[in-house]
Formats: sequence, C-alpha cells, structure tokens
Amino acid sequence: MSLLPILRFPDPRLKKVAARVDSIDDSIRRLASDMAETMYEAPGIGLAATQVDVHRRVIVVDASETKDQLLTLVNPEIVEMDGQQVGEEGCLSVPGIYDKVERAAHVVVRFLDLDGESQMIAADGLLAVCLQHEIDHLQGRVFVEHLSQLKQVRIKNKLAKQARITA
Ligand code: NI
Repeated sequence: MSLLPILRFPDPRLKKVAARVDSIDDSIRRLASDMAETMYEAPGIGLAATQVDVHRRVIVVDASETKDQLLTLVNPEIVEMDGQQVGEEGCLSVPGIYDKVERAAHVVVRFLDLDGESQMIAADGLLAVCLQHEIDHLQGRVFVEHLSQLKQVRIKNKLAKQARITA
C-alpha cells in the first residue's frame, strides 16, 4: 500500500473524463487499496481515481463517523435520484475551501465491487452527497464548478496564493 499524490484544482488533469474499467484485475485492486489509504490519511470521506491522476472509473467513500464503512465502487452509475439537499462540501483537491452545493437528496448507484459482482447501493444524506461528488470527479467535474463564476475566480486566486506560500 502506498499514499498517492492528490491533484489540486485547477489542475487541468482534473477535467479528464475517466474510462470504464473492463476487467477488475490486481492493478485495479491495488489502486483501490492505495486510494483508500490516501483518503483515510488525508483525511477525507471520498476520493476518485481522477484525483490521483488515474483516469479510470473507480471511487472510494467512507462517510461513517467510525471510519470503518469503506465502499469501493468500480464503474459507478447513478440509476435513480430524487429530492434535493444543500450541504457544505469540501474536496481534497481544493484544500481549505468549503461551500454550499445543491445535490439530490437520495440516489441509487449501480457499480461493480472488487470481485466484479454487480451491486446497488441506495443512499441519502451525507453518503448521497459524497457519491454524487465523487462520480462528478470521474466526469471531470470539481464541486466548485457548481458555484458562481465569481466564486470560482476567488477560489483559484486563493489556491494560487496558498501554492506560492508553500512553494
Ligand atoms: Ni472531491
């Protein structure tokens, strides 16, 4: 297992659309396990392969308070969504930035597990937000792109300043 470097917004590689995984082999299992370790270490509640510069449709999430409910989803697809909720979101690729985003209140997601079995998960609340946020990453979308243009410019300026300070 190893920790993976996380791309930071507005890195253009975060805009790449991830490709479907055709077969779940050891390289996908290793990726998923490294992503989980990276997510817990950060710490975060979700991570998409896109954020570690691997453009395959794999996400890991754990929205539990006890941090022992790891879900690994390969080729996740939202098959049902309804209602709405607005919650404060953050992202490991956009450190220190939190803002309100409107999402569906309830989603059903179909995916493959690491054994290649087709599974469904129904989620609401934080887990539903997290799944929508991570699936967005696979489409090349970062949560700040749900915000106004003005806010996005401010966020880019703030992150550029942070990068200069840490460099
Ligand atoms: Ni994110």
